[in-house]
Amino acid sequence: MSTTENAIASAEAHSAHNYHPLPVVVASAEGAWMTDVEGRRYLDMLAGYSALNFGHGNRRLIDAAKAQLDRVTLTSRAFYHDRFADFCTELAALCGMEAVLPMNTGAEAVETAVKTARKWGYRVKGVPDGMAKIIVASDNFHGRTTTIVSFSTDPEARADFGPYTPGFEIVPYGDLTAMREAMTENTVAVLIEPIQGEAGVLVPPAGYLPGVRELTRERNVLFIADEIQSGLGRTGKTFALDHEGVVPDMYVLGKALGGGVVPVSAVVSSADVLGVFRPGEHGSTFGGNPLACAVALEVVAMLRTGEHQQRAAELGDHLHRELGLLAGGGAVEAVRGRGLWAGVDIAPALGTGREISEKLMEEGVLVKDTHGSTIRIAPPLVISKEDLDWGLDRLRTVLSAR
Ligand SMILES: Cc1ncc(COP(=O)(O)O)c(C=O)c1O
Repeated sequence: MSTTENAIASAEAHSAHNYHPLPVVVASAEGAWMTDVEGRRYLDMLAGYSALNFGHGNRRLIDAAKAQLDRVTLTSRAFYHDRFADFCTELAALCGMEAVLPMNTGAEAVETAVKTARKWGYRVKGVPDGMAKIIVASDNFHGRTTTIVSFSTDPEARADFGPYTPGFEIVPYGDLTAMREAMTENTVAVLIEPIQGEAGVLVPPAGYLPGVRELTRERNVLFIADEIQSGLGRTGKTFALDHEGVVPDMYVLGKALGGGVVPVSAVVSSADVLGVFRPGEHGSTFGGNPLACAVALEVVAMLRTGEHQQRAAELGDHLHRELGLLAGGGAVEAVRGRGLWAGVDIAPALGTGREISEKLMEEGVLVKDTHGSTIRIAPPLVISKEDLDWGLDRLRTVLSAR
């Protein structure tokens, strides 16, 4: 057995099989490149589902983490620490909001958003106890907790995990009329992804997001934007909603906020909305820890310059132009996305998304399939144009070789 096969066999023997990874065993990484245990190099066109927007081993982020490791890493929220205020202040400013509630993973931040909206509904909006409803979209992906899978429409994510949490209405993504019709006096929030990542990088029809903003404002309903995957530079702006000039009532952030170094997530909103919490009502031992705050503070500082957003916009235009050419040639049926983020529907006759991903891996490019014959392309925003072109060449090779 090769070193790779050994490592995979041993991983499979001693872990739950809740993932189906590509057969590559990464040993190190830098920038947009990863190296496996046998010394083969791969271009990372997934970037940890956008957690690695700033690339592997980003110097500024690693330095910030190392400096903090030598000072203090964890206090719990039982005490204040000297990185907390800066992190909250700077992140709130980046979002144009007032207050931050830090957590660790994306799913925890979504749970926090759900709890915030319900509490706001009862305490501020005056919804009768136990009656709060949150509207979500079909084909959503917001995480894996029992409450979150309760409002998933993906049978794989849901099956065998009931009983399900009530209080959610599912409407078709992109359908404003359905959303309006689903709204009642007990609706406390709309929770959507401005671009649906896991669904295949689905961009909603023009006018939908401003429409959601108008409708939610009109009906005194919170607009919660899950920008965990779409936010923090990926689409060529700080937030995907910025493309539509829309400001929600609450951002839910994660992934890139931790710079690919530590898990950091947060709910960012107004002082009024987050003001519904009293001590003891919500929290997390690791949420807002000094190491997380030090790294995320550096992430926010990097985003404040706009340099990464601009890079994602420019390289993204290039990526979409090139993928558009492929779409004209029959091998690719559709391309969606914004910035350095694309969902590519490969003609099913050429193989499943998984098969295409395996072929690309053999060519030295790592991507991830979603449903059916769709692959996602989301390289680190620090990728060079040459490397991006190299990756696109490999994609052309794989599509033409089949
Ligand atoms: C839009 C969105 N929300 C929430 C999550 C869940 O984040 P995590 O895996 O960190 O819990 C994801 C993860 O892919 C996501 O894409």
